[in-house]
Amino acid sequence: MFLEVIVALVVGVLTLWTYAFLKNYIKLKNIPAPTVWPIIGTALEFKDPEESMYIFPNLMKRLKSKTLRMHMGFRTVLVTADYTLIERVLGSPTLTHKTYFHFIPWLGHGLFTSSGDKWRKARKLITPTFHFKILEQFLDVFNSNGVILINKLKNEVGNTSVEVQTLMSRCTLDIICETAMGLSVNAQTEESSEYAKCIHDITYLVNARAFTPLYNIEWIYKRTKMHKDEQAILKVLHGHTDSVIKTRRLKLQEEADKKEVGRVAENEDDFGRKKKVPFLDMLLQSTIDGRPLNDKELRDEVSTFMFAGHDTTSVAMSFTLFAIANHPEVQKKAFDELYNIFGSDKERMCTTTDLNEMKYLEMVIKESLRMYPSAPLFSRTVSENLDYNGTVIPPGIPILFLPYSIHHDPDHFPDPEKFDPERFSPENYDGKKPFSFIPFSAGPRNCLGQKYAMMEMKCLLSMILRQFELKPASPVHKLELRSAIILKSLTGIKIQFAERKY
Ligand code: HEM
Repeated sequence: MFLEVIVALVVGVLTLWTYAFLKNYIKLKNIPAPTVWPIIGTALEFKDPEESMYIFPNLMKRLKSKTLRMHMGFRTVLVTADYTLIERVLGSPTLTHKTYFHFIPWLGHGLFTSSGDKWRKARKLITPTFHFKILEQFLDVFNSNGVILINKLKNEVGNTSVEVQTLMSRCTLDIICETAMGLSVNAQTEESSEYAKCIHDITYLVNARAFTPLYNIEWIYKRTKMHKDEQAILKVLHGHTDSVIKTRRLKLQEEADKKEVGRVAENEDDFGRKKKVPFLDMLLQSTIDGRPLNDKELRDEVSTFMFAGHDTTSVAMSFTLFAIANHPEVQKKAFDELYNIFGSDKERMCTTTDLNEMKYLEMVIKESLRMYPSAPLFSRTVSENLDYNGTVIPPGIPILFLPYSIHHDPDHFPDPEKFDPERFSPENYDGKKPFSFIPFSAGPRNCLGQKYAMMEMKCLLSMILRQFELKPASPVHKLELRSAIILKSLTGIKIQFAERKY
């Protein structure tokens, strides 16, 4: 009897798999795929996780195609670095659907994870909060956290191999908390910060789940230790956000009352200083479908800022510091530009005018994002029949985009392994192929925080370059890139800091 049940189960699973496979295979057979095995599909291609960064580029070379068909268990997924398909999907006003289920426990249905009408309304609501006039008021937050970072880095002078990811990550966490929620979590100054640890751990867990196909099945995932850990971490993170929402709501009410009796000016705090309005306060005063956002909606959006605006910028700055340290000619040009702006004044805070003058530094950051895109992959799920070179991609098929691959494609960026910021000079980069450079994605669902990120990165990197000369680590450090939701180097990102002599 037991044997019969097992046989029936195996036959059942095989039949289901064959049905799921054939259904999409018939439609997508013209798109090349590596060898497909029953049940596991193309999973054997992923046997070496150390190589995760290069699996798709190597397969694309081997199969001579910039779009691949992969079979992950019962699911068929397309993976692409083909300009035509990227432009077709990312440029479309309707192909905006995402299925990021692994993010839902943390981010709920906020701007990053939602789809359809819900996403459209949230995007319309949140876009004005990223207006440059609003971003300008955050410059104080970038500057003051930059000063703390500089003091931390001063302690590292003389150390021949400094891992910068953690230092940068704590700084950007403090910045995003202050700009999103209006309070710092002191991640830079309190190394044992529970909130900082939880943010680090949840990012790790979401990533681990996304890359474990079995955990895509909710029923299985809910029975794992990973799920239990996730619940414990979310209790801390959501608890913190909920309490901040409560406090800010009360504070806004108090301020409204004071304004009514004329005790404070609208743009000033209790001490008469110019007020910085965090994203949360703007959301608290907004309406969706004619009603204020409820606490869960507010929490989802605040959590979204925490995820989208923290590691992305810290990783981008860490790779940029590494590239600058290892390219003295680039460092000289970047520093000369800063010297022209600030002279020998190392301490003066950055203004928006200064940031606008940092043209070369911006080219350096863009070249670094080309070589090391913070988000090395992201996806859309096709929601309507999509014609691609004569193949009709049916609804329900996820398409995975690979910024890393298109950024390293010699058809778009000749000599792609060379770090050359001049690619982005006004003479060399005409922007006529906007979907070949997609560190911030592109089209209607592009990164909403792009301007914020550029301001933050220029501010912090310029502060560092004015204080320190960057040098390669000793012994020489080799990056080991690992494809994840956020790009990582398994060996860390290491350089040296020397006091800059003027
Ligand atoms: C170097 C820094 C950054 C990089 C490389 C980056 C990259 C990206 C990418 C590739 C996407 C699209 C993801 C997808 O389609 O699944 C995205 C979306 C998004 N990013 Fe960023 N990001 C950065 C910084 C920020 C910051 C600082 C914020 C907020 C303060 C932010 C907020 C968002 C939001 C809200 C979305 C979702 C937009 C939507 O779906 O409508 N990002 N980002």
